[in-house]
Amino acid sequence: MTYETVRGMRDILPEEVGYWTSLELQVREVARLYNYREIRPPIVEYTELFSRGIGEATDVVGKEMFTFPDKKGRSLTLRPEATASVVRAYVEHGLHAKEPFQKLFYIGPMFRYEKPQKGRSRQFHQYGIEAIGSLDPSLDVEVIEVAWTLMDSLGLGGLSLRLNSIGCAKDREGYREVLRAHFSSRIAAMCEDCQRRYLENPLRILDCKDPRCQAAIESAPGSSEHLCADCASHFSQVRALLEERSLSYRIDGRLVRGLDYYTRTVFELVSEDLGAQDALLGGGRYDDLVERLGGPPTPGVGFAGGMDRLVLVLTERAKAVSCSERLDLFVVALGDDGRKAAFTLARAIRRAGVSVDLDYRGRPLRKQMAYADSLASRTVLVLGESEVASGRGRLKDMDSREEEDVPLTAEGISSAIARRRGRWNLTSS
Ligand code: HAM
Repeated sequence: MTYETVRGMRDILPEEVGYWTSLELQVREVARLYNYREIRPPIVEYTELFSRGIGEATDVVGKEMFTFPDKKGRSLTLRPEATASVVRAYVEHGLHAKEPFQKLFYIGPMFRYEKPQKGRSRQFHQYGIEAIGSLDPSLDVEVIEVAWTLMDSLGLGGLSLRLNSIGCAKDREGYREVLRAHFSSRIAAMCEDCQRRYLENPLRILDCKDPRCQAAIESAPGSSEHLCADCASHFSQVRALLEERSLSYRIDGRLVRGLDYYTRTVFELVSEDLGAQDALLGGGRYDDLVERLGGPPTPGVGFAGGMDRLVLVLTERAKAVSCSERLDLFVVALGDDGRKAAFTLARAIRRAGVSVDLDYRGRPLRKQMAYADSLASRTVLVLGESEVASGRGRLKDMDSREEEDVPLTAEGISSAIARRRGRWNLTSS
């Protein structure tokens, strides 16, 4: 009997992990530049957090959540996204009492019961930022700039920003009526989901991908044409600030995003490298969410991006092979004395910060050398009877093929490797 991963979940194998850590490092670096601090909410939350926070009528809540009862019959859910959790934490821990303005970021797995396909899975990974506590349009632009800077730093080409404003709660109410009027004569020919959405929340019709619904959606009026004076002014300030910073955008009046908490600014960033249909990342304002989840009225804005497809692109381009991925030293140990000495020496060298590995299978020299090659070890040291007896060995640089006589002490070997490290960092392969 063998076991497989659950459908839509997958292992990230050691060959791939380097790309993930490089991407995580880059997220952390950009977050540091803009002063966002990390928060790590739990993966399991009470279901109500999402049904209330994200909205019952959304596909995420209605169809895609992994929900189950705990032993006491309380309904729990594997988080499908992190904004609701971050806002819960903000309210639960009274972060607003200490400092109402908080800039936070997160990285971690999310769960949605979707049809698995390339780069889309049921356990997927997101990084995201949330800036809570200000209505300032320059904060919307900062959030967009963080997204753009990050994608740029990863070398993603052909970036384009889709931008819209869906206004305040009142504007959305009005816009829903505008949409109902538009769809009323068309809804009979549309999919069953849209017929339900028409009654529950016609905004959700705009996310529908069913071919039967596309013509009616494409002719629907845009939300940014139906904003109150305050929201219209907020939106024009966001646009002016984007233009000032040369962040080009395209207004898409029908971009409403699939989650109910959004207000005012919404955006998505797409890249030619990923194909235009699938957003690299998306976000927007959620000025009512803190209050909806029991906190004081507090605005917020943020975005999240999927890491899985990004890693696929990075892997294909081999853009992120980090030099730290390579092993510093492989000790080829021969005979009982050699193995014993290598085992002790490796421990001491690791304490000096040098990564070391050995062969634990008692194999001949040739096989051990081939293994060192497969690990892309930067250096190799052979330890046999004569080396143990003389207390000296030859350290071989596997890239330059140079050899160097070294004493068999942790200090002697680690300082020889430290001297070479400067050169490795320069060539960084
Ligand atoms: P979202 O648009 O649902 O927004 O997801 C953000 C990103 O996560 C998407 O653009 C996509 O890259 C990725 N993603 C979503 N579902 C999957 C999946 N099944 N497999 C792979 N990647 C996926 C949110 O989650 C909001 N919380 C964003 C936000 C933060 N808004 C304000 N603050």
